[in-house]
Parts: sequence; structure tokens; C-alpha cells
Amino acid sequence: MIVLNTKTQIKETVREIKKKGATIGLVPTMGYLHEGHGSLIKRAVEENDYVIVSDFVNPIQFAAGEDLESYPRDFEADKKLCEELGADAIFYPDPEEMYGDTFLSHVGVYEITTVLCGKTRPTHFSGVCTVLTKLFHLSMADRAYFGQKDAQQLAVVRRMVNDLDFNIEIIGCPIIREEDGLAKSSRNTYLSADERKAAVVLSKALKEGKELIDGGERDASKVKDTIVSVIEKEPLAKIDYVEVVDWDTLTEVSSIDGPVLAAVAVYIGKTRLIDNFIK
Ligand code: PAF
Repeated sequence: MIVLNTKTQIKETVREIKKKGATIGLVPTMGYLHEGHGSLIKRAVEENDYVIVSDFVNPIQFAAGEDLESYPRDFEADKKLCEELGADAIFYPDPEEMYGDTFLSHVGVYEITTVLCGKTRPTHFSGVCTVLTKLFHLSMADRAYFGQKDAQQLAVVRRMVNDLDFNIEIIGCPIIREEDGLAKSSRNTYLSADERKAAVVLSKALKEGKELIDGGERDASKVKDTIVSVIEKEPLAKIDYVEVVDWDTLTEVSSIDGPVLAAVAVYIGKTRLIDNFIK
């Protein structure tokens, strides 16, 4: 496996790969890889001739006061995992390489970026779409792999790729969970032992909401109320949002008639965790 640190290196590498007619799979990450990322890499290796994992903590998707500085990093461990899983290259640029000091362009996706996480993180998705546009161009990937844990991100990226005619297929992959149900996340490392126990309330609440729908409930507010009431029983949890929205438009629904996304963002102590299901 090779490590690519510069835009020139990745461009030269993928040009050679493309000349051979090989397919390229991209797994965009911010590093500190866990089994969730691992599942994306494995799938990319199965479905493509050449797999690139990007490992870049993208500064422009963090707002002032968010966890850019403290975001966990361990490049050596990331490299080892990528190698073990059969990735061919890891793209590990620094922010200066990606943005220089005269960067003036941003990619905007509207409406679906102002709900859910976009309400409290108004600049986040523009930062995500901008870096992904760059990574899609640089990697010339045929397919890119995203976890459903960041369901809004997946919906936004699909919309961007469709609206702007990117020549890339976006593959959404299932959420990978700890044994007790907590969705795997690099941010789980911020949790103290007590907070870690409390964090299971997200998946527990969503499970109850999902069971209601499975049992025939079609009133979205009843599903939402059930999820809220389970989370509110946990003293260390503070709800940012609980929403049941249309899985395509991310607009609120009152009746569950088509595919919906039930999504939660909850502070456990100071750590903001997200989780969801699509039904
Ligand atoms: O989901 C992430 O880790 C990031 O938002 C992504 C897609 C790698 C863009 O920086």
C-alpha cells in the first residue's frame, strides 16, 4: 500500500490506474479508523480494482468552538488497518496542501442542509461538500463509500452528485454498532466510563421507535415522542434533536407512508452523538 501526501501524487497515481481501465473505489474518512470505516473499506475492496482511503481531518467542516483541535488522530494505526484490509493507497494530505492560503470556492447544497444537524451546524455541509468535490476529482473514483450513521451527509452527498452530474456512484453502507448497540464513532473516545454506559440510550430509544413502526404505527409524532421519552429518562443525555423525516427530502412527515429517516442528535456530557434508522 502506498501513502500519497500531495495532490500531484494522487493525480499521477490515478491517471496510471485509469489508463489500465481499472475501477477506483474511494473511502473518504477523517481517520481514527474503527470497524465502521473497516466495513466500508472491505466493501470497496470487494467491488473495485483499486481502493483509495482518504484520511483528512477537514478543517472547513468544523465551526469555531467545535472539536477540530481535539479530533482524535492516529495515522500509524489507520495505515495498518488500511493495509490489512487490502486498500491500495491512503491519501493523507495536510490542510495547507488541500486548501493553500487563497481558497475562495465552496460547494453549496441548499434546504436539506439546513435541517437536522444543519440547524446547529450551518456551515458544516458546505465544508463536507467542498472537500468531497475535491476528493472525487482528485481520486477519479468510480464509487465512493459512506456509512449510514451520517445519514444526512449521505443524503446531501447523493443530492450533490445527482444535481451536479458527478460521474461517481455513491454507496451507502449499514451502521456498525458496538455489542450494546452504540453506533461506532471516532467521537465515542471522548466519553467517560459513565457516559459510555449512558450513550447506549440513543440506540435503545431508536429501537423502540422502530418497533412501533414495525407494529403498524403510522403517526410520526407518536414515534418521535416514544424516542424522546426513552432518551429523557437518561440523566446524562440532553437532546439536540429527534426528528422523523422523509428519507429523500429530509422534510418532516406527519404520517409514515414512504421511506422515513428517524434521526437523533444527543449530547452525552459534552459529546454530541448521532444515530438513526431508515424505515
Ligand atoms: O464523514 C466523515 O468522516 C467526513 O465528513 C468526510 C465525508 C470524510 C468529509 O470530510
